[in-house]
Amino acid sequence: MIQLPGLIDTHVHLREPGATQKEDFETGTKAAIAGGYTVVLDMPNNPETTTSLKALNKKIRLAGEDRDFTDHQSEKTPGKRAKIEHPSRIYCDVGFHFGASPDSIAHFQAVRKKVFGLKIYMNHTTGTLLIEDKKILEEIFSSWPSHKVIMVHAEGETLEKAIRLARKFKKRLHVCHLSLKDQIEMVKKTKLSNMDITCEVTAHHLFLTREDVKRLGPFGMMRPPLATKTDQGALWNGIKDGTVDTIASDHAPHTKEEKQNIPTPNGIPGLETTLPLLLNAVSEKRLTMDDIIRLCHTNPARIFNIPIQKDTYTEIDPNNRYSINDKHLFTKCKWTPFKGMGVKGKVKRVILRGQTIFENGEFKTGPIGKVIYPAS
Ligand code: NCD
Ligand code: ZN
Repeated sequence: MIQLPGLIDTHVHLREPGATQKEDFETGTKAAIAGGYTVVLDMPNNPETTTSLKALNKKIRLAGEDRDFTDHQSEKTPGKRAKIEHPSRIYCDVGFHFGASPDSIAHFQAVRKKVFGLKIYMNHTTGTLLIEDKKILEEIFSSWPSHKVIMVHAEGETLEKAIRLARKFKKRLHVCHLSLKDQIEMVKKTKLSNMDITCEVTAHHLFLTREDVKRLGPFGMMRPPLATKTDQGALWNGIKDGTVDTIASDHAPHTKEEKQNIPTPNGIPGLETTLPLLLNAVSEKRLTMDDIIRLCHTNPARIFNIPIQKDTYTEIDPNNRYSINDKHLFTKCKWTPFKGMGVKGKVKRVILRGQTIFENGEFKTGPIGKVIYPAS
């Protein structure tokens, strides 16, 4: 048995509120714990975007933070204005990212102590948060507090644009889901120029290529799309030479039915498969346990200023061989593009603040997660 610190996934889409047919706080955080994560940071591209203090507070409340809040349903019934007990619904700790939009700039000051990063969508993807206007982008970059991270979804040429803006306004830039060789090279070069830039890769870009799309069809479609073997090789080299700072799941569940619609929504679930795939890479000597700790714990905590909890661990059995299946998944969408893949290395037990929350495939407690806020 090997004990790792509780792992951190800084890029997940828990889908609540607004798309709970795909996932909700309960199912998403159960999937996180079962996948070995004790902390996840949730993205703002819900149908009702996280772009105001009100929307952020609503998420916090839905996750179960403000246990005592006025039930708005009963407010409509005079005389029945009851305070209801609202228990926590989250199994792991959850923090939030804020979304950039022309209207959200006015809320930056009010939310800055509550959120971990600002997410700017500079390319089309799920949701309505795309921003292409140069003036608005400049206003966003200049207004976000300098000590906090700006995360960008920036594919292709947009990456260069994001780097230019971060340099101009002296901001910290974290590039999400790098998938191409050119992008890795650009980030590597930018790091050498002494700019505060970090980057993330996802498990699906490390373990799948565009060849797999033939087999997976819509279930292999996400943003950025799966790339070539050469691109994939560059991501692995980026891990080895220190260019890559974090590995995230970009857990982006859609229902099976939705995935078979045209147009296909982009995104795949990943919380329960990322660590098993990484452990398997350790068993094949493509990665070390220290790499996993650095990429999925130490660096995410440092970059996003995540408070570290006492007595919080993920125990893994490095010798357990099995094939990934969809039967035992806790994610509401109940599918994975990695179905049938043989791996070696399994999550055995997860301990959150001294309590065993998950062991041998079963939950041992109720939802004991907390909404978390940046350490400083
Ligand atoms: C994400 C989603 O579905 O919310 N989809 C995806 O393909 N990655 C959005 C995103 O992160 O781009
Ligand atoms: Zn995402």
